Amino acid sequence: MNYKKMTNDMLLWYDSNNRDMPWRGEKNPYKIWISEIMLQQTQVTTVRDYYLRWIKQFPNIEDVAKASIDQVLKLWEGLGYYSRARNFHESCKTLKENNYMIPKGVKEFQLLKGVGPYIASAVQSIAFNIPVSVIDGNINRVASRFFAYSTAPTKNQKKISEFMDHLLDKNRPGDFNQAMMDLGRYICKPSNPLCEECPLHKDCKAFSMGQQNHFPIKQKRKKKPHYDVAVGIIWDDKKLLITKRKEGGLLGGLWEFPGGKLEEGEEVENCLRRELFEEIGVIAKRYSFFDSYNFNNCWRLYSI
Ligand code: ADE
Repeated sequence: MNYKKMTNDMLLWYDSNNRDMPWRGEKNPYKIWISEIMLQQTQVTTVRDYYLRWIKQFPNIEDVAKASIDQVLKLWEGLGYYSRARNFHESCKTLKENNYMIPKGVKEFQLLKGVGPYIASAVQSIAFNIPVSVIDGNINRVASRFFAYSTAPTKNQKKISEFMDHLLDKNRPGDFNQAMMDLGRYICKPSNPLCEECPLHKDCKAFSMGQQNHFPIKQKRKKKPHYDVAVGIIWDDKKLLITKRKEGGLLGGLWEFPGGKLEEGEEVENCLRRELFEEIGVIAKRYSFFDSYNFNNCWRLYSI
């Protein structure tokens, strides 16, 4: 296999198909960092608007550090995986000690909260030209097809990492990494890949077998848990009662109507009553009153 040629072909392909993404072009480490965090679990098309709004409100790290967590989460609303925003906010605050400069070097950068191997390598290679390769879901698919791995990508991480290290262009590591990500996203797509347009197709094993759609082999997924919850929509004139979720867990720190998971055998109403007591220390009591026409069932809340 001629790695040098494959690398050159990838960069030629990237240069003539470079996708217009607002975080590309200007090599601003902060902008590359926040874009990579947003892109980690979210599609490019969704990230675009969130990214532009974010940069408008927070043009640099210091602006993020000085914002409150509620301002940060408000801008993130709808993107999901909120710990990404929380960790980013924490990291920006930590960087005050470093004059709000992002550390150079994969190890140094990974000392920040929420910066794992993927974010560190992506940001360092794109922003600082540090020669480190990345692996994301798109690259896993490209490599799994290229070698026609008979097991899921998670079982082949070492081999995929070595493949990427061999191919990496040491002069343009960021461009090379992004070329591989783009290839996976736009050409080596999950279904019906556009193999004729792929600069690597001549050496691709899945292509040579005509089995592109068979790879990557899927990992058996854990069954998604299902929960029944009781939620109270409680108002007083024009005010609605909302509560803040505990930090750290699922959707941590976000606002919600009070409530929670039903315990085994628990009635919805009792569950809500229990949750109101546990979460905000109020006792909910039913009462009935009669107005001119009807009996009405209402609730009253008593704080303790
Ligand atoms: N996915 C995550 N980061 C990316 C990037 N910088 N370019 C293309 N796809 C990506």
